[in-house]
Amino acid sequence: MNNIEQAAEFLKQEDVVAIPTETVYGLAGSAYSEKAIKKIFEVKNRPFYNPLIVHIKSIDDLAKIATNIPPLAYKLADAFWPGPLTMVLDKQDCISDLVTGGKSTVAVRLPGHPVTLELLNQLDFPLVAPSANPFNYLSPTSAHHVEEQLGDKIPYILDGGNCEKGVESTIIGFKNNTPILFRLGALSMEDIEEVAGELTVLNTSENTPDAPGMLLKHYSPTTKFCLSDNIEQSIEQYRNKRIGLITFNSTVNSNSVFYQIALSNKNDLEEAASNLFSTLHNLDKMNLDVIIAERFPDNGLGKTINDRLQRAASDSTIL
Ligand code: TXA
Ligand code: MG
Repeated sequence: MNNIEQAAEFLKQEDVVAIPTETVYGLAGSAYSEKAIKKIFEVKNRPFYNPLIVHIKSIDDLAKIATNIPPLAYKLADAFWPGPLTMVLDKQDCISDLVTGGKSTVAVRLPGHPVTLELLNQLDFPLVAPSANPFNYLSPTSAHHVEEQLGDKIPYILDGGNCEKGVESTIIGFKNNTPILFRLGALSMEDIEEVAGELTVLNTSENTPDAPGMLLKHYSPTTKFCLSDNIEQSIEQYRNKRIGLITFNSTVNSNSVFYQIALSNKNDLEEAASNLFSTLHNLDKMNLDVIIAERFPDNGLGKTINDRLQRAASDSTIL
């Protein structure tokens, strides 16, 4: 379905709609509607302490949502918006505790997808939108993924094609005008550091008060999942099982592997990131005994890919 007016109509009625963004699909509702916000949490089965991102249509709207905005935030907005950067700032009174999980800060971004920007332009309120997946499962990168996961629970899915970035936005906060990384994402640390100087990395492997909802286990397929530093050894360990293998660019010669896929034959981390969730969705449907993924290079979007693989693996095995 690709009728923007129809999607806008549901949102004006305080209902929820799945929307495309350049990162992943979001489950959107009016940021000013308690009814819509509650429905988002209910549909996702998401705990209320995990706050939502507010999506705005222009940089001019930032000051309506946030206050005490540091100059560096405007510099980053000018550099990367519309785009996959979310900034955590002090909230304005119009943003309810339901959106922020009771915190005094709010996460804001200006998404880089033409369909959703057009939708926002037809509305006189911003949209809160978490990723449109059930809590803890893989994020959706196509309208089809949303249909499979939440299709029976929501009235409308606005189809904007496959998500270009394929992983969620990078989230940063500020302390004394210096940037702090809350979540790795589709914008690399290196790109942010070029504009903002060195990023302090918040340890989000455990739940922290500054970044609630950064769960150790997250983005997980249903199939047992392993992140491996030595794929030959991992394949050997699961020799008699039905193995699915995810590599960066190499092919492994082994009869034990039932299905294998390289995320980027041309060795491109951005391409690999954009294929990550769609590949996991596909492998998760193949009745495999185990999915083994190799660890990616620790630079650029390789860091983001490793972060998602680590969280997918957290109650399985990291070999
Ligand atoms: O790319 C994205 O960011 C996608 C698209 C739809 O925009 N959205 C997304 O939302 O990934 P979600 O809800 O799955 O993840 C948002 C995360 C929350 O888990 C929470 O950790 C963080 O943003 N967050 C939200 N508000 C926050 C706040 N006030 N302080 C710290 N972290 C916050
Ligand atoms: Mg999410």
